[in-house]
Amino acid sequence: METFDTVILGAGAAGMMCAIHAASRGGRVLIVDHAKAPGEKIRISGGGRCNFTNVGAGARNFLSGNPHFAKSALGRYTPRDFIALVEKHGIAYHEKTLGQLFCDHSAKDIIAMLLDEMARGGCELRLNTTLEKLTKTDAGFDVVLGGDGAADIQCRHVVVACGGKSIPKMGATGLGYQIAGQFGLTVTDTRAALVPLTFGEDVLAGFREIAGVAAEARVSCGKTSFDEALLFTHRGLSGPAILQISSYWREKQPIRIAFLPKDDLFAALCASKRENGRRSIGTALGEILPKRLATYLADRHGWTGTMGEASDKKLAAIASTLQDWEVFPIGTEGYRTAEVTLGGVDTSGLNSRTMEAKAIGGLYFIGEVVDVTGWLGGYNFQWAWSSGWAAGTAI
Ligand code: FDA
Repeated sequence: METFDTVILGAGAAGMMCAIHAASRGGRVLIVDHAKAPGEKIRISGGGRCNFTNVGAGARNFLSGNPHFAKSALGRYTPRDFIALVEKHGIAYHEKTLGQLFCDHSAKDIIAMLLDEMARGGCELRLNTTLEKLTKTDAGFDVVLGGDGAADIQCRHVVVACGGKSIPKMGATGLGYQIAGQFGLTVTDTRAALVPLTFGEDVLAGFREIAGVAAEARVSCGKTSFDEALLFTHRGLSGPAILQISSYWREKQPIRIAFLPKDDLFAALCASKRENGRRSIGTALGEILPKRLATYLADRHGWTGTMGEASDKKLAAIASTLQDWEVFPIGTEGYRTAEVTLGGVDTSGLNSRTMEAKAIGGLYFIGEVVDVTGWLGGYNFQWAWSSGWAAGTAI
């Protein structure tokens, strides 16, 4: 029988952050993962450059059954704190857009940084290791591990950092939710989020014609909207604006697309008509929208003739169609491509300062397994760092 103060299940972003801080307080920390390498999602994130935080991250950028839950951890371990760690390790980074910070070189720099900090604190990492059994005891927990790191372990704290269900091919499992269920914690409904939307054949046939076209747009669902790029694909709609809205969209709801949302499009079309009335409507639209998109929209809506022939009423109708296009997705691409899982361990069962289960002393849940889901743009990693820090420093 081996003894540790803390066993952390999952060597992803949240687990490694927690390990660093639990160990820095002098505890014996073991972190285990069934994968053959730690931080696999960090490695593939941000196109290999890891969008590791967002300078503006705050609770308003997260979806949760309790919108206040994330405030404590995010407010005590901020993007600034993580940036300081990145700078301490000499990792070069840049802001891409909208406060999103990316590594200049590689996401692997972030993994190396976390492993380095873990090693300094004396954390033990066991890979290719599975959880066989977890039992509560008077003193803490008995943990039975299988695989390469097989052992019978006694510990005082168990931290569940197993992530969500997205990308099962990369090792995502429902273990965190199972452990929550085993100890009587509620798990809210989960669904794929930050995920492309799919469409019925009637709509898709059109999208296929313009697959690969990207355009800036405001995409809305109900009262929520995001101004970012939208991408037409052979499977439906993708791009940042669509991934963002997918977290808010529900079956049978429409989404609304507005191209050039900040412009007075009617005024722009009238000016274009005055400038040169001999151009076709499609050609004129191609000067303010991607050309293939302009041609597709003009064909689809039967906007033939020249700008000179178009009445003000017609131009107003074109402007309003371009800025209020309603489409009905039929679904999402699901966990196969989703960046995150919406929902998870119900925050009402957790202490927001420490991430400890209120009913089970010594049991903690951090990162994506918790019902706190960020927008696209570095917010989900910031939640992993902040919640990992909150648990690690509380242990
Ligand atoms: P994470 O999933 O990172 O870690 C969980 C760990 O638990 C994994 O190592 C897994 O192997 C292990 N595990 C699971 N089941 C287990 C079991 N049964 N036994 C043992 N171990 C088990 N976010 C962001 O802010 N910026 C970005 O750029 C991106 N980019 C991005 C790209 C892609 C393609 C994806 C899929 C996701 C992103 N994200 C992102 C989201 C981000 O990756 C995610 O929110 C965090 O990795 C969550 O951190 P966790 O530590 O909670 O889970």
